[in-house]
Amino acid sequence: VSVDGDRLAARLAAIVGAAHVVTDPALKSLYEHDATGRFSGSSRLVVRPGNVEEVAETLAACSRSGAAVVPQGGHTGMVGGGTPRDGEVVLSLGRLQALGEIDRAASQVTVGAGVTLERLQLQAAAGGLDFPLDHGARSAATVGGMVATDAGGHLALRYGTMRALTAGVEAVLIDGRIVTRLGGLLKDNAGLDLPELLIGSEGILAVITRARLRLVPARRRRATALFAVADLDTALAVLDRLRAATPSLEALDYFEETGLRRVCERLGLAPPFSRSHPVYLVAECAADVDPSEQLLAAADIVEESAIATDAAARKALWRFREAHNETVRSLGVPLKLDVSVPVGAVPVFERDVRTLVEDVEPDAELILYGHLGDGNVHVNVIGAGEAADTLEDLILRAAADRGGSISAEHGVGLAKSSWLDLCRSETEISLMRDIKRVFDPGGILSPGRVLRE
Ligand code: MLT
Ligand code: ZN
Repeated sequence: VSVDGDRLAARLAAIVGAAHVVTDPALKSLYEHDATGRFSGSSRLVVRPGNVEEVAETLAACSRSGAAVVPQGGHTGMVGGGTPRDGEVVLSLGRLQALGEIDRAASQVTVGAGVTLERLQLQAAAGGLDFPLDHGARSAATVGGMVATDAGGHLALRYGTMRALTAGVEAVLIDGRIVTRLGGLLKDNAGLDLPELLIGSEGILAVITRARLRLVPARRRRATALFAVADLDTALAVLDRLRAATPSLEALDYFEETGLRRVCERLGLAPPFSRSHPVYLVAECAADVDPSEQLLAAADIVEESAIATDAAARKALWRFREAHNETVRSLGVPLKLDVSVPVGAVPVFERDVRTLVEDVEPDAELILYGHLGDGNVHVNVIGAGEAADTLEDLILRAAADRGGSISAEHGVGLAKSSWLDLCRSETEISLMRDIKRVFDPGGILSPGRVLRE
């Protein structure tokens, strides 16, 4: 630790208490690795403020000493957005745990950045409501990071991403000023919406400390189907059928033969059907009356199906899909690319990706899955070795060429900042840089994330 590091640590300890400034290398290392195993760095220190005023004083102190800061939430990110690079201060928001009363009239709730998705879901359910966003990292991912990355998950098909569910934020600027807009007004068009700008800004503009979130009435009955289909074109036909049959469709995720085999091996699970199939879909409907009938709308075009309505059986079907991430991770450090393409282009984009991997590194294993109804494909290449960089470039270009985005729901972070121009114009990027300078003139907040240095 440098002398200046010591001084900053002492200053921060005076703000948050010595117990919440972590300088011990072993303890610090808990904050220094990302969920993919691809990003890590040795932080200068980790600071854990307990309220918004402490966040403000912490940022002001870092600002005065010119220390680079990276905000960190539940530490489930996959693009190096919240993982420190060498020498950066980690600002962990985990202690911002306030969970407000549900405002029934507005159907909203105000929650601290450090509240996990799961806790938020339980709080909403206790009030007879749902927070309609869900994903596999629910027990660890926190609200601050989810707003900052405009997280998606499998319910986006019906309810949109965090952007659609966020009615306001409280955030701290790098100089310590606090911007609070948590009123949650549905109609409020008084000028530029600055808090809105922070949704999806990945920590490069300000640090989100609280969010005002929208809730929906809890749907009483749920039905989940696992369908096996012959190919992705049929999968799209299933989507079409289900959409026409029911407004209660919430999710249509997919995975494939290779991924399923790996998941079953890892978890010691029996495969869901007696035969193996190229593509599997998880469809979920939720309504006030049992929606399982509506899931049968696609019955004649699927090869095999299983439908569940009770929570445990539904969870077991989802497990085949949700376990893909941890399974891939267990096989090594994957090349992991979260992209989106227009929904109708998913089959052709998958063909592009398969061809690229076969041409560039035929020995690599390709595991594709994602949120089909959103056109959101998670590309995972295992064993790409030295070809990883080449493949990364080619796959991101292929997504852009098909009219897609280099980042669907995980964010740009450090991982993809070099490719932002594939899906944003020069004008857009230059405006982003101007805005970044207004919020963070010294360039010390999440440097290098989103906008390449
Ligand atoms: C998922 O859909 O499972 C998550 O986005 C994580 C992943 O990409 O594996
Ligand atoms: Zn996902």
